[in-house]
Amino acid sequence: MLIFGIETSCDETACAIIKDGREVISNVVASQIKTHEIFGGVVPEVAAREHLDTINVVINETFDIAKKEFNINPDDIDAFSSTAGPGLVGCLLVGLNAAKALSLSYNKPFIGVNHLKAHVCANFLESDLKPPFICLLVSGGHTQVIKIDDYDKQEIIASTIDDATGEVYDKAARLMGLTYPGGIKLDKIAQTGNKYAFKLPEAKVKENEFSFSGLKTAVLRLVQSYRGKELPVNDISASFQETITTTLINKTKFLADKYNIKTIALSGGVAANSRLREKLFELQSEGYNTFAPKMKFCTDNAAMVASCAYFCPIKTDDSLILEAFSRG
Ligand code: KG4
Ligand code: ZN
Repeated sequence: MLIFGIETSCDETACAIIKDGREVISNVVASQIKTHEIFGGVVPEVAAREHLDTINVVINETFDIAKKEFNINPDDIDAFSSTAGPGLVGCLLVGLNAAKALSLSYNKPFIGVNHLKAHVCANFLESDLKPPFICLLVSGGHTQVIKIDDYDKQEIIASTIDDATGEVYDKAARLMGLTYPGGIKLDKIAQTGNKYAFKLPEAKVKENEFSFSGLKTAVLRLVQSYRGKELPVNDISASFQETITTTLINKTKFLADKYNIKTIALSGGVAANSRLREKLFELQSEGYNTFAPKMKFCTDNAAMVASCAYFCPIKTDDSLILEAFSRG
């Protein structure tokens, strides 16, 4: 089954064609980083307009690659899908309406997708991972541990009570003067620093909770204490990165043990983080099976959307009237 996917929930305009939820036929991502760099972060109205300007080019390129490399034509597509939420509504509407229009014009079904479930499905792309497994989802808007009993049987077993992981990365980066996109820059600089230079706090919360506001405040205080002196950005970054990845991995491991599930996967933009991936793979020596999406499938993309349309779509009586949603 060939599914065409569209992703426009935030700052990437992306389309892909995926066979049977796992095999990548075509995958195109147009990033808006250059546009939002000027503003120091994503401006929703600007993002929506850029999606509108870019979407047709990305759709055409996706079809062109499928034709050139696999001799697949638009008529061969079995269904069209897009992210319906959560995300920026003005942005979501661009992809949602484009996918609905394609579905009507090619007379094929439209399938709506939840962005968070799509991040989890990034693990199925070019891999043979099968449920059951525990998934740590860490993105710009969410931090969750999800128990995946089957493709469409998922339960959130822990989540953040304040900031999301990507959000804390971006805020900590900004405090140290690293500009948007801050998370990836902090990760790079952390690799040159001493992770034991500063002792930063880990929140004491319930087993089904994460909290990062204390860590964020600790970074703020540390940065303030260097006023007038040179800031050791690499050591603060390394210490921050070590603290947050330790918290994330320890809780995920604890919950995997609690539910007696030996397979652990990562997902979401922060799954691209070097230390988080390292710490995840270290669990293999303790007898866990570990999976992380390929780097290109960690941050927002449409390959994961088309995979999700195949494995765990949003169920509705009439998908064509499915609306965009900001939270979920
Ligand atoms: O999943 P995603 O692309 O968008 C959302 O759905 O939110 O995640 C974006 C988030 C941003 O906060 C970004 O700073 C963070 O993922 N991120 C990283 C890294 N790459 C992206 N954070 C830490 N280390 C990275 N290497
Ligand atoms: Zn995302």
